[in-house]
Amino acid sequence: MNKMWACKSVELLRAEVDGNERGLKRSLGVWNLIALGIGCIIGAGIFVLSGHAAANNAGPAVVLSFIAGAIVCVFAGLCYAELASSVPVAGSAYTYAYASLGQFIAWIIGWDLILEYALGATTVAIGWSGYVVSFLKNLGIYIPSALTQGPWSFNAATGEWISTGNIVNLPAALIVLITSWLLAIGTRESAQVNAVIVAVKLAVVLLFIALGWGAVDHANWITAANPDGNFVPPEDSFGNFGWGGVLTGAGVVFFAYIGFDAVSCAAQEAKNPQRDMPRGIIGSLLICSVLYALVAYVLTSLVPYDKLNVPDPIAIAIDTLGMSWLAPLVKLGAIAGLTTVVLVLLLAQARIFYSMSRDGMLPAMFSDVHQRFRTPFKTTLITGVFVALLAGLMPMGLVGELVSIGTLFAFVIVCLGVLALRKTRPDMHRPFRTPLIWFVAPAGALSAFGLMLGLPLDTWIRLGVWMAIGIVVYFVYSARRPTPL
Ligand code: ALA
Repeated sequence: MNKMWACKSVELLRAEVDGNERGLKRSLGVWNLIALGIGCIIGAGIFVLSGHAAANNAGPAVVLSFIAGAIVCVFAGLCYAELASSVPVAGSAYTYAYASLGQFIAWIIGWDLILEYALGATTVAIGWSGYVVSFLKNLGIYIPSALTQGPWSFNAATGEWISTGNIVNLPAALIVLITSWLLAIGTRESAQVNAVIVAVKLAVVLLFIALGWGAVDHANWITAANPDGNFVPPEDSFGNFGWGGVLTGAGVVFFAYIGFDAVSCAAQEAKNPQRDMPRGIIGSLLICSVLYALVAYVLTSLVPYDKLNVPDPIAIAIDTLGMSWLAPLVKLGAIAGLTTVVLVLLLAQARIFYSMSRDGMLPAMFSDVHQRFRTPFKTTLITGVFVALLAGLMPMGLVGELVSIGTLFAFVIVCLGVLALRKTRPDMHRPFRTPLIWFVAPAGALSAFGLMLGLPLDTWIRLGVWMAIGIVVYFVYSARRPTPL
């Protein structure tokens, strides 16, 4: 039982880094780190879920949902920054939890992070598919919907599964398999390639804001359910419009910010991690927050929100501008951008399984490293096949909300973890100290929990079931294995 609460010492973690990852070049400056963050952050959240949240939850007030999501992330980001600078291990909430709150909580977080990374990749792959199909349509290539959509959709309001008559979302499954294969054979996302794709993504987003701004028309806020054209449409039921809808919408679009934690994965490759990790994390978050609020405003002011429940809402908004040259360009930018998000989320998932296996909590196979490729080959491919199946079959809204709740839960633990380490290891060297920690960390934990509360009951039940399975696996399997502490 003692083992259950034992923490892995920060010194041991640092020693593992020195032993295993010696030779990683410290080549990333602050702008590379910010670019890395933006590379993982801007994806399906803004290109796809913004439309879902506007249509189902918040209407034009989805702008406020984005701002609320940003505030929660900045609190959590400051806590991540302290841990990433003082435990500079290929970082993740899992590792931080092991150092601060013990093995059991680390397991809980590792299990929970499957929701963030594996299901996150699933969601983004489905978004990728929506844009690819729409782009091909522009080129006159039509793929039958039986092969571009999963067999079921899910009605969040009634909790009903509806058969769509389609077979499989083939493009979504394929992009997962292709990126997994690239990761498995060791294709590394270099900072330069990432920077190029980020530049494309940013250009597309800025172009959309700039061109859409001129056509903004608040008359588009008027819908059958919002005849007065209010910014916050009248409440239907809790979570569907009104202020409750803004909160629920924040829980949904929170997905758009996921990925800033990936900056902490590069702690060992940063030239000056102590100074630049916090700047990279917070910088990428702030840039994305401003862009998101602007995109959400333009989007809902170009198209009535009840028409935005589609896989490619930004493309729909562009169609209203009547600039036919712009649509394919934006779609191409979205496709490129979403690809890197899938890639990085899958990479992160494989790394978490790898760390959990090395700590003795998953079968040793998960930490096998391929001799030639030097990657966790088997883990990467197993993850890829599993995620490809989900991406081919699952409806997007359903998985998206699970990703959000899972990540928010991880944030709660990271915020509590940083406080716990301040108490248990007050003298530990902390190159970056979260300012006003006794305000920021509790505010981060509480606000993340608040966003969780805004998510539908069904999503909570699914989280509960998933965690219950995880706890059973822990006691039946992981806790019984010898742990190299
Ligand atoms: N934030 C990432 C996205 O929106 C996960 O795709």
